[in-house]
Amino acid sequence: MVNIKNISDDFPILAQKINGHRFVYLDSAATSMRPNFVLDRIDAFYKSSAANPHRGVYALAERATAAYEGARAAVARFVGADTDEIVFTRNASESLNIVMYCHAQYALKPGDSVVIPISEHHSNLVPWQIAAAKTGAELRYLYTDAETGLIPDSEIERKIDKTTKIVAFAHVSNVLGLRFPAEKLVARARCVGAVTVLDAAQSVPHFPVDFHGLDVDFAAFSAHKMYGPMGIGVLYGRRELLEKMPPFLFGGDMIEYVREQDTDFAAPPHRFEAGTQNAGGAVGLAAAVEYIGAIGWANIESREAALMRRLTAGLAEQKRVSVIGDADPGARRYGVVSFNIEDVHSHDAATILDSFGIAIRAGAHCAHPLLDYLGVKASCRASLGVYSTEQDIDRLLECIPQVRRKLGYGD
Ligand code: ALA
Repeated sequence: MVNIKNISDDFPILAQKINGHRFVYLDSAATSMRPNFVLDRIDAFYKSSAANPHRGVYALAERATAAYEGARAAVARFVGADTDEIVFTRNASESLNIVMYCHAQYALKPGDSVVIPISEHHSNLVPWQIAAAKTGAELRYLYTDAETGLIPDSEIERKIDKTTKIVAFAHVSNVLGLRFPAEKLVARARCVGAVTVLDAAQSVPHFPVDFHGLDVDFAAFSAHKMYGPMGIGVLYGRRELLEKMPPFLFGGDMIEYVREQDTDFAAPPHRFEAGTQNAGGAVGLAAAVEYIGAIGWANIESREAALMRRLTAGLAEQKRVSVIGDADPGARRYGVVSFNIEDVHSHDAATILDSFGIAIRAGAHCAHPLLDYLGVKASCRASLGVYSTEQDIDRLLECIPQVRRKLGYGD
């Protein structure tokens, strides 16, 4: 099904020219592109099976229900969870908001603390600010080490204490590309009786993730960062916790029985899926899971590691380029590296690189507190997908020196 050597041929969007140049897409951490395999499955669902799941007893409706629930089972296997622990949402942000609205705001009280790394994406930070403001709990940060970009053990030991009720963290930072020690954070959280929330948006596309194996209580990710469609995400919740939580939205199909004045709600996961769901999205996500399976994790990991080494070694050789986080080009990064070019705002750099057909992200990457902490206003970010190539990396490295030249600097 997948020819790993020419894998970028599977992705029709990459075949176009941008500004007259071969398209070099290096913004997969913002959203990954989708292979024909996924696009065709979504198309086939809408052409052959797209009745409303769980609403009808006729053949097409049963087919739609089977496709939707089959997708849930495929996703559960992909992340090491039970099928009824997988809730379909719109995206990782919505998943994290459900944890805040349906768990945290009832679980927290004054004197409690929520602990998160300073490097969190706003989606895994603002909900905790709101939870703290609603309940009187303290929002406490784990600060990363200026040299390595990682969280020192001493921070984990000191900040996660007996007041801590929630520890929420990204598996991989969307700015630094570094992997945080999920096992250590979960172990420390367990020690003090805190619930853990894993933002897996930047890890599930890059290496196998096992929610039961990690022993996390909640986890969130989005389909669109792992070769699936936009508009569908996943909330994983430990069954005992989901069962205790009230619904997030009220409406059709999240009920057991409705009387004139009150309602019995459905069991999870349907309790959290009010209204007609994005069944085409679920089918697309399941296709993405199958596509990743067909490539194989060993291929994905070795290919991406080699490309990232080429990129970070190339950036280290560039004059007037500084990498954010761990400057060691040998540091293992998962799909993401952020950097700055001396005297150049990242928006100018990204605009000039776009004129060469290269797409990178520029700005604060939804992580203002991290950039403030590091004393950096903004950065350029290059991020990889399984379709990225050595030619993509070399093209970026070749064009970076042009940025300062175009702006009138000597070198
Ligand atoms: N969360 C996405 C990113 O980091 C949008 O770019």
